[in-house]
Amino acid sequence: MDSPAIPRAYLCRRFTPAVEAAIHDRYDLRLNEDDSILEAGQIIANARGAQVLFVSATETISAEVLRALSPTLKYVATLSVGYDHIDMAAARALGIRILHTPDVLSHACAEIAIMLMLNACRRGYEADRMVRSGQWPGWGPTQLLGRGLTGRRLVIFGMGRIGREIAARARPFGLEIHYHNRTRLSPEHESGAVFHGTLDEAVKVADILMIAAPGSPEIKGAINASRIALLPENAVVVNISRGDLVVDDALIAALVSRRVFAAGLDVFANEPEIDQRYRTLDNVFLTPHIGSATHETRDAMGWLLINGLDDVRHGRTPSNLLA
Ligand code: DGY
Repeated sequence: MDSPAIPRAYLCRRFTPAVEAAIHDRYDLRLNEDDSILEAGQIIANARGAQVLFVSATETISAEVLRALSPTLKYVATLSVGYDHIDMAAARALGIRILHTPDVLSHACAEIAIMLMLNACRRGYEADRMVRSGQWPGWGPTQLLGRGLTGRRLVIFGMGRIGREIAARARPFGLEIHYHNRTRLSPEHESGAVFHGTLDEAVKVADILMIAAPGSPEIKGAINASRIALLPENAVVVNISRGDLVVDDALIAALVSRRVFAAGLDVFANEPEIDQRYRTLDNVFLTPHIGSATHETRDAMGWLLINGLDDVRHGRTPSNLLA
């Protein structure tokens, strides 16, 4: 009797060794050996014949890609919680199921959010550079004065799983937590945070504005010049979500004029080709989209995809199935 065929899979990026080994065990796997970021045409050519496509947020999985790989392609598994890089409507129309990696990365992303917030408020980039460059003249009473956290208001735009982990870590700093979401959280999830029904109302009280909302076309450009004008003087802006939620011209103008004290940015429009002006500003702390970048988190993300795919192939519905 023939044994059931092993499903074919294509891996667009190199995952952690443990995760790749587990994928190898289950699939007839081809992979993008050199871990380069693939264009649509390359994905289509390389993944032809695959039933499962493993991607990350660096691959744009457009309707064109999905149509070209359909009907063989059955599943797209993305090593990301965000899925704004995937045309979900096209996937639904073609019957292609999508899996992502919620929850397991929330702690790691919240840690980076706190790191960016502290470095922006306390001038981490300038301080590091002063010591590293040998330009430190010695301790000074007015040297590198920053913005303290205690008693200030942290507004979290997007109080989902990651936003709530940020809030939990921010409270011990003495920050007052506020948030804006489309819908108000239950009292249990709110944990005393102050809800604002509109983004404008939330921004007006933000000593620190933390952008943690999932990327989506509806909120693209939400942090624009008029919202930045609503921020209190000397506010700090942190973005761990998606770069296109912020209008770069508006944020950069506010950073240059010091209307905004500082920013901490882990994500950018058009990564990795970031707006070059950010590189010239002292009052910005920059990291290269490393929110979920810990060994244990990337392993957990990979396992969530593998286990989810095992589930759907056996008729079960995993919690990380999107469509
Ligand atoms: C995510 O998981 O969405 C992160 O931004 C990495 O892409």
